[in-house]
Amino acid sequence: MTAPLQQFGGNWTDEKLDRLRQYLAAYQQALKAGPFTRYYIDAFAGTGYNTPKSAPEDASPLLDDLVSQDTRKFVDGSARIALQTKPPFDRYIFVERDPDRFAELTRLRTDFPHLKERVHLVNDEANGYLTSLCKSCNWIAERRRAVVFLDPFGMQVTWRTIQAIAETQAIDLWLLFPLGIGVMRMLPNHGHIPPAWRRRLDGMFGEPDWYAAFYETQPTLFGGADSIAVKRADCTAISRYFVKRLKTAFPYVAGNPLPLMNSTNCPLYLLCFAAGNPKGGPIAKRIAEHILKP
Ligand SMILES: C[S@@+](CC[C@H](N)C(=O)[O-])C[C@H]1O[C@@H](n2cnc3c(N)ncnc32)[C@H](O)[C@@H]1O
Repeated sequence: MTAPLQQFGGNWTDEKLDRLRQYLAAYQQALKAGPFTRYYIDAFAGTGYNTPKSAPEDASPLLDDLVSQDTRKFVDGSARIALQTKPPFDRYIFVERDPDRFAELTRLRTDFPHLKERVHLVNDEANGYLTSLCKSCNWIAERRRAVVFLDPFGMQVTWRTIQAIAETQAIDLWLLFPLGIGVMRMLPNHGHIPPAWRRRLDGMFGEPDWYAAFYETQPTLFGGADSIAVKRADCTAISRYFVKRLKTAFPYVAGNPLPLMNSTNCPLYLLCFAAGNPKGGPIAKRIAEHILKP
């Protein structure tokens, strides 16, 4: 049996998509009378839908066993949810790197014919595309506003992208931070982190200070100049650290990011929100914090 192109999740996927749906509706209501061109940008758009997961052999090789133990029904993915928002956005940008998933995504134009002129489909790498888009104009002067949804499988989002989004001061960001599925697994108790993992973590956090935040250096039992690193950080500490990092880039960051748990109650991701607009940011943060309540 051929594995479906997009298959992931369990209840945590519903949790994530339900929060996004609520925010998009609130955002559009709040901004509909404003003079802005409103964008919805989904940089890890997938196929637009999610397919049932029935048997372990169906599991996507891109996901690990934590995820594959969960089962689910067919649901609309983030792209379809965004296209159902009322009133609709002025522009939709969907980015997907995988060519097969991208081919499925192009069906959105036929399934939402009334919006097809507003839909822009991009078969590209998310970080590069988004960074150029953010830097391509003065978003505030051009009265552009956007909601960006970053929903990667793992550690794909880089800090440079997050920073470019923040610098527009016009974009509200929803981001799935790969807490259990990525970061936790790259932090072994003994603290010997392979250089490739270190680079990845540096790229995600935008600085190397995470090591000192997550590990404590202690003298060895034998004394002398030798020391060993001992992991101190748990999921809560890593979450706090990431929220602190977000606050260095964005003026408004939801203080209650939502941990998304798998069926055995392990945190897979952290659903985070940040806003950069000086005027709209405070209310956006309040709405997001309300939506993020468990
Ligand atoms: C978790 S899925 C997205 C699911 C989607 N948000 C939904 O609700 O249906 C992540 C998607 O990102 C794509 N992807 C992974 N790395 C990427 C990258 N660097 N640039 C663009 N797309 C990427 C994968 O092919 C996959 O389809």
